[in-house]
Amino acid sequence: MNWLIHDYRESDLAAVVHLIDTTAELGQESVFSLAECIGALTSRQPAVVAVHQGVPIGAALACVAGERAWVMRIAISAAWRGRGLASALLVELERRLLAARVGRIAYVLPEEELLGEGLLNAGYTRQPAVAYFEKVEPLHGPAASLLEDLGGRFLPGDLWGKVAGMETEKDLIERRVVLPLAQPERAARHGVRPPRAITLFGPPGTGKTTFARGIASRLGWPFVELLPSRLADEGNLAAALRSAFARISELERVLVFIDEVEEIAPVRTEPAQPGGMHGVTNELLKLIPRFREGDERLLVCATNSIRSLDPAFLRPGRFDYLIPIGTPDKAARAAIWSRYTDGRSDVDVSVLVAASELFTPADIEHAARIAAQAAFERDLGDQDQVRAPGASTDDYLAAIAQCRPTVTPAMIDQFGADITAHARF
Ligand SMILES: Nc1ncnc2c1ncn2[C@@H]1O[C@H](COP(=O)(O)OP(=O)(O)OP(=O)(O)O)[C@@H](O)[C@H]1O
Ligand SMILES: [Mg+2]
Repeated sequence: MNWLIHDYRESDLAAVVHLIDTTAELGQESVFSLAECIGALTSRQPAVVAVHQGVPIGAALACVAGERAWVMRIAISAAWRGRGLASALLVELERRLLAARVGRIAYVLPEEELLGEGLLNAGYTRQPAVAYFEKVEPLHGPAASLLEDLGGRFLPGDLWGKVAGMETEKDLIERRVVLPLAQPERAARHGVRPPRAITLFGPPGTGKTTFARGIASRLGWPFVELLPSRLADEGNLAAALRSAFARISELERVLVFIDEVEEIAPVRTEPAQPGGMHGVTNELLKLIPRFREGDERLLVCATNSIRSLDPAFLRPGRFDYLIPIGTPDKAARAAIWSRYTDGRSDVDVSVLVAASELFTPADIEHAARIAAQAAFERDLGDQDQVRAPGASTDDYLAAIAQCRPTVTPAMIDQFGADITAHARF
């Protein structure tokens, strides 16, 4: 045994990294990445180094989590394999771990790792029932705190599928927006440039926010909603927007959502009104081109009142598409009612569809809630529980009669005129 084993020292870092890096192909890799190993070394987790004539020839490192330690890597230079060095390093490493009051030592190895036999000899038991699963979080480290700082997050992956009905809008958004962004190379082959900014417009409660969230979920991108009211708390809204967009530009991919955008980019009047939004609109006009320069980013604005938006703000080149989201037609209402009645066969959805003309998804959701509440209250008074659980068709009809649709025929007319004047897709 003509080697010396000593505690890891800072001056060993380069040599140990080299050992870890160069021995990976020899089947000595582990579930811990090189970056994690470096992190453990620099944060002084237990590690030992074997040296022969002043040259490092092997290293073993671990990380301690409570009473358990994980052996992260035992790296042996090629010429020194099969000579018992791995076992020697492990014994030394274990000694450090015991001193750190570790009660259990685990080592996850690639299946065919030669070291396996050595570990059995060293008193380790193989856990045949253990399967190692790993999930890589899409965002961690500084990018994660940046996202948190912006109030952004990853949404559940199934939101697109949960948008019920609205097939026309869904299909349009899927073809124009989602697919070019999801498959940029394929789109580029046909000269299709993925959109970078879109505006969804339509009456209240038709699902604009739902679509924006659905797109982020479908793409697997983080969703950052910029709330003008919150940004304004920082004092100067224009400056706050600039700073938010600067932070957003550091994210690798992102969907940025601005709801009720007419409040911050209204038609600019001449002369500018004191306390008006002139400066903010101008700032946004400057920010959007820069935002558009990045790949894997999409700005989605939503508004109930597209006619109040500054025309310069909406022009092509800033916004690729201006997509109307209207009240659901019969088929869409049927799909939405089925969603909120849980597809129960004892509810006659076609009757509800006929009774809820002009209802938005939000209205349907509200009516369904009133009906469910009525069924619940009836159940509380029904000691024998003779009725089947859940609201009946009559409960839903009563709830519909109680609700006034948010959207009036006059609003529908106005929406039609807005589509003629503004829609672009
Ligand atoms: N296609 C849909 N299927 C099922 N539920 C939906 C659908 N669209 C919207 N909803 C529900 O209706 C409610 C209103 O939707 P959303 O907030 O997306 O509307 P909006 O157009 O953004 O409204 P506003 O103009 O007031 O911001 C939400 O609770 C949402 O879950
Ligand atoms: Mg909304």
